[in-house]
Amino acid sequence: MELHEIFAINLTPEHLDRIVVLTGAGMSAESGVPTFRGEGGLWKQHRPEELATPQAFAADPQLVWDWYKYRRNLIAATEPNPGHTALVELESILGDAYTLITQNVDGLHTRAGSNRPIELHGNIFINKCNNCSNTFPDDALNFDEMPPLCPKCQGPVRPGVVWFGEGLNPVDIEDAFMKSHQATLFLSVGTSAVVHPAASLPEMAKQNGAFLIEVNPDRTPLTSLADTAIHETSAKALPALVDKIRQVRSKSI
Ligand code: APR
Repeated sequence: MELHEIFAINLTPEHLDRIVVLTGAGMSAESGVPTFRGEGGLWKQHRPEELATPQAFAADPQLVWDWYKYRRNLIAATEPNPGHTALVELESILGDAYTLITQNVDGLHTRAGSNRPIELHGNIFINKCNNCSNTFPDDALNFDEMPPLCPKCQGPVRPGVVWFGEGLNPVDIEDAFMKSHQATLFLSVGTSAVVHPAASLPEMAKQNGAFLIEVNPDRTPLTSLADTAIHETSAKALPALVDKIRQVRSKSI
């Protein structure tokens, strides 16, 4: 579907009862944050096993911290894009009927103004103790020692992101599954839909009767399941989609 066809999407006021948006790395691509699997994606230069696993951190905490500090600096120099801003607008239109779930750890949704996104894979700017899970600001840690040690229990402090082989926060994933199960409209935006359990959220929503819209310039395993697949970037498609939803909502009032 092309951008101009968004207004033809057959959405009804009932679809707006409970909206869930799931975002992936493509959401931040137009802010200049590289995706993981696309062209120039971060994983193309590094093997995940080298960097984003507990084993890699235990083997070479310096290498892992260097990579995350590089990514933190890269992300800190970026700005939210019109796609992030459109989702802030959608939240203001829908209020409690809206849930944002993100796989992104870049914090750009929050910087754009989104409240309470469910950050399934954590947040790259958080420093978390591997033992006691307490979190600390940078200035509470001594990065001259590697890994920096927890001020409370002397455990090793690592970036507050979920690594391959680690479980997700049980509260977050339970909330994400419950909201997706109840969704009347599910938007899957900028994700390759291959990493579980996040990738199963849109499938489950669709199986439970949600209207499923995918926003992604490329095809994914979800594309054939979607009621509407918008082959556009999120920064272009989301503002138009929010206008469409505002139009449908105005009919229901
Ligand atoms: N707008 C929308 N989608 C885009 C854009 C864009 N401007 N640019 C790229 N995309 C799409 C790509 O086509 C791809 O399908 O975004 C998707 C990004 O996929 P991945 O790079 O696999 O990122 P993601 O789906 O978020 O990965 C999931 O894998 O490595 C782990 O923890 C990491 O959270 C990540 C998870």
